[in-house]
Amino acid sequence: MDCIVINGGNPLKGEVSVSGSKNAALPIMVATLLADGCHKISGIPDLMDINTLAKLLTHLGAEIQFNENMEVKTHNISVFDAPYELVRTMRASFLVIGPLIAKLGKARVSLPGGCAIGVRPVDIHIKGLEAMGVKIDIDQGYVTASCDELKGAHIILDMPTVGGTENIIMAACLAKGMTVIENAAREPEIIDLVEALKTMGAKITGEGTGTITIEGVSKLNPLNYTVIPDRIEAGTFMVAAGITGGDIYIKNCPVKYMGATIDKLRETGIVIEEENGLVHVSSSGKINSVEITTNPYPGFPTDMQAQMTALLSIADGTSVIRETIFENRFIHVAELDRLGASIKVEHDTAIINGVEKLKGATVMATDLRASASLILSGLIAEGKTTVLRVYHLDRGYDCLEEKLKLLGANMYRTIENDL
Ligand code: EPZ
Repeated sequence: MDCIVINGGNPLKGEVSVSGSKNAALPIMVATLLADGCHKISGIPDLMDINTLAKLLTHLGAEIQFNENMEVKTHNISVFDAPYELVRTMRASFLVIGPLIAKLGKARVSLPGGCAIGVRPVDIHIKGLEAMGVKIDIDQGYVTASCDELKGAHIILDMPTVGGTENIIMAACLAKGMTVIENAAREPEIIDLVEALKTMGAKITGEGTGTITIEGVSKLNPLNYTVIPDRIEAGTFMVAAGITGGDIYIKNCPVKYMGATIDKLRETGIVIEEENGLVHVSSSGKINSVEITTNPYPGFPTDMQAQMTALLSIADGTSVIRETIFENRFIHVAELDRLGASIKVEHDTAIINGVEKLKGATVMATDLRASASLILSGLIAEGKTTVLRVYHLDRGYDCLEEKLKLLGANMYRTIENDL
């Protein structure tokens, strides 16, 4: 299994470019199921979750070519089942259920199951589809869905679920009549999905607000779209500059979607300025302690929580982070403590007593953003840090270690048993 070895202490310097957003690319790839034809998507990041979804879409009958850009041919979508072995490795695969029902009138999709950060049920997705007239049966870990005619409905989500909002929007595009989703998620990735659906001829308004209206149409055309940059990758680079006392320039940075992240990082003392289309991030290395509560967009993103925990582990004073989205998203804390951090978790809150310095050790990645937090800590820890199970990192970051090495990080990838 791959691991990454880091010799800490180098302040990062130079320019880095942000790849396309994983969490926008995934639903946009799924949206190709809604129309026959040849779809063109650019700006797709090259990472494991993208490849996993491409495998699932191919299983359903799509033909996919992914070089610089992605081409998805959906002339023969006839398979309507998404098997457990594919869905369990990448939960966002559950997004295919809405489009399959809309296009084929039926679907049999494995329940995604939980993951390290939480149970992550899909009950709200299912409730929304049932409101549109879908007959749902759950048996032996599979959701079997069928519907003679998908009807528009007025749906109030129990909570602003990102995936649930995306699933219902895609189903509603081909439903008969109007669908109104209230308490919808407002994430930028949903705005991007809607913009992509509009290139297909979908009639949608309200994206980015809590109320989204979709007027069903009888047919959609192939999409042609460029995915937005990844705001979480960009935020991860900002933390990397802050934690190492570095001075970097970020290209392709989606500043307009990073308000809460940038505000909080500035509060820690990191200097963030826009200069000729680049974002200049610099830090003296002195980090102020802050308080953070994660919230649905536009609040502070849960996907930046682990990275901030790493940064605040070397802040002056005590910081507090409250995680309100996932019930088990502090697994990285035990590993950070192995590097000398002093963090206590009480229910949904981490109390972080800043320490002078971290010391290198061998640590284990447990989920995507946890692995990023361990890499960030290794950049500043004294001596050598070895991060095991970096396949978690490869799921959601496009060549992160190459990009960090270009900024001066002293790190390399190797095989665990070669250590
Ligand atoms: C998306 O996951 C993202 N993934 C996650 O990013 C992100 O952390 C999350 O949104 C929140 O912003 C993708 O977009 C592929 P949710 P999703 O449905 O859609 C509960 C990363 O690191 N819930 O908004 O699965 C659920 O348990 C990943 O890139 C229900 O109870 O998130 C969770 O507590 C991690 N019932 C909360 O809502 C449901 O039917 C938020 O989940 C659906 C969700």
